[in-house]
Formats: sequence, structure tokens, C-alpha cells
Amino acid sequence: MINKAGIKKIGILTRDCAGINATIRAVVRSASKCNVKTVGIYKGYEGLIDAEFVDLNRRSVSGIINLGGSMLKTARSKRFRKAKERKKAVKNLKKENIDGLIVVGGNGSLTGAHILFKDYSFPVIGVPATIDNDVNGVGMSVGADTAINVALDALDKIRDTATSLERIFIVEVMGRECGYIALRVALAGGCEEVLLPERSANLKKICKDISAAHKKGKMTWIIVVAEGKAKAVDVGKMITDTIGLETREVVLGHIQRGGSPTAFDRILAARYGNHAVKMLLRGEKGKCVTLKNEKLATIPLRQAIKTKDIEAGDYYQLIKILT
Ligand code: F6P
Repeated sequence: MINKAGIKKIGILTRDCAGINATIRAVVRSASKCNVKTVGIYKGYEGLIDAEFVDLNRRSVSGIINLGGSMLKTARSKRFRKAKERKKAVKNLKKENIDGLIVVGGNGSLTGAHILFKDYSFPVIGVPATIDNDVNGVGMSVGADTAINVALDALDKIRDTATSLERIFIVEVMGRECGYIALRVALAGGCEEVLLPERSANLKKICKDISAAHKKGKMTWIIVVAEGKAKAVDVGKMITDTIGLETREVVLGHIQRGGSPTAFDRILAARYGNHAVKMLLRGEKGKCVTLKNEKLATIPLRQAIKTKDIEAGDYYQLIKILT
């Protein structure tokens, strides 16, 4: 790696999801190979404002590749929305002699990174890491694959009961305003229906379908609902009120964000983390790492933080054909 920018110390702050620790490890060890130091920033932007720093080295990131969460902890920061607090944060970076920052997280974290670059021209590189997989222009964010597999594992278990008791289950998954997890889990889990923020849903038609299938002897249904579309409990109530059939609702919640990262996420973390360091050393800033046709690439942070459109049509059709 050529250190054209003369970077001596990198700072790293993160959100939390599976694969974040593997990303921290990749950043610290890639930087160390080029004799560049890494400072961890505790609790995301909150820790940046309060100067909660910790020196990281090759040894301090050993044994974390398989761990969920973030060894640096994280927090939502309302304070970082205020210009006065951001000024404090930049002052802390300079005082600590941090001359490049890597921000690992989803839309909110990358928006903060973009502001630091735009308002202070601070050298920042973003690494997309969020179960929601809602970073625009980025095919895969670290953590999304693990989240799908965790949700799928839960859904398979729910299916055992749904089949034995011939019941209708409504399973609510995370994803904020993005239906990425819901769509993948519904297809991989062989579900009958999926409700997505990206598609309008005809609930009356769904009730009619359930009722018609019920009369022919098909009793088990699993409907996946993206949290950005509806609440499982409301969908269940609507079905019961309309066609009189009993339902059960499961909200998978935060289990989707935790757990040991899949091999896919660990490899992505290694590649993204290493590439982010490379970008900083090359003198690039205000960018977010991504893959283009499986090859490492970057896009401007201002593009990454725009709303992402997920193409739901093909997968949805497949779910309906295969059910
Ligand atoms: O962005 C990740 C995510 O897990 C979303 O899927 C979810 O809506 C949100 O965070 C939950 O946030 P919190 O952990 O603050 O409740």
C-alpha cells in the first residue's frame, strides 16, 4: 500500500451488527502493515464528541473476527446533529493527531461521515455495515448476510410449529424502511407472502387467497412483514377480523443484528476494511467502499446516503410462483 497522503494515525468509529469486529480487525491490521497507527473511538459519534479514544494494535484485535456487536460499543448521537458539537468532534480528532477517519455503519453513520467531509474537508472513508442493506449504490453491506441467515434459522423453527398445528404465522423482520431482509427471508424460507415497504399490499386479496386455500386444505401460511411496512400484530388482527382464522405473530427484533458473522460477512469485512485503509493512504476522502462486479470500488458518500431503491419485483414473483 502506498502512503501517498502521509497518513500517520487513523481513527475508526462504528455502529453495531455482525461483522463490525471483523472490519475493525481488518482496518487495524491493514494500517499496522503500513506503520500507520489506529485509534478506536468508543460509542460512535458520542465518543468522538467526548474524546473517548483507545489505542488499537494487532494484538488488541485478536480473537474478535467471530464476535458479533462492536468491541468499540456504539450509541445513537443526537448531539452530533448540532454544529457546535461537531466542531468539538473535529477538534478532538485534530488534538489526537488523527489524520484520517473510517466510519463503519449504515445510513445514519455515513450521513455523519459525509457532513464531516463536506463541512470540514476531513479525510473520511465510509464502510457500509448494516443489517438493513439500505446504503444506496452498495450491493452488500457487512452484516446483512448474517441477519438474513439468523432470521431464516428462526423462520425454519417457526415453520415446524406452523406445519404441525396448521397455523397462520406472521413474522416481522427488521430493515427500517428497506424490505431487503424481508424479501430474501421470504424467498429462502419458502413463505407464502411478504409485505414490503417497496410494494403496495392488497390485504383483502391476501385474505381471499388464504380463505380459498384453506377450503382446499392448505392450512399453513407464513407471511413475512418488513417492519417498515406494518406491524405483525396488526396484520394478524386484520386477517382474523376478515376471515375468522386464528393467527400467531412473531417479532424477530434485535436477534437479527447479533450473532457470529457468516463467512460471507467476514470476507466482506476483510475486503472493505483493507480497502478503506488503502483509500485513505491514497489520499481519497468523502467516499464509501463498495463492490462493483465483485471488484472493490468506491462511490461518493453523498451518493451512498441517498434513498436506496430495492428491486423487489423479480424476487416477489418467484415467491408467488413457488408457493
Ligand atoms: O438499522 C438497524 C436497525 O436494527 C433497524 O433494522 C431497526 O429498525 C433499528 O436499527 C432498531 O434500532 P434500535 O436498536 O435503536 O432500536
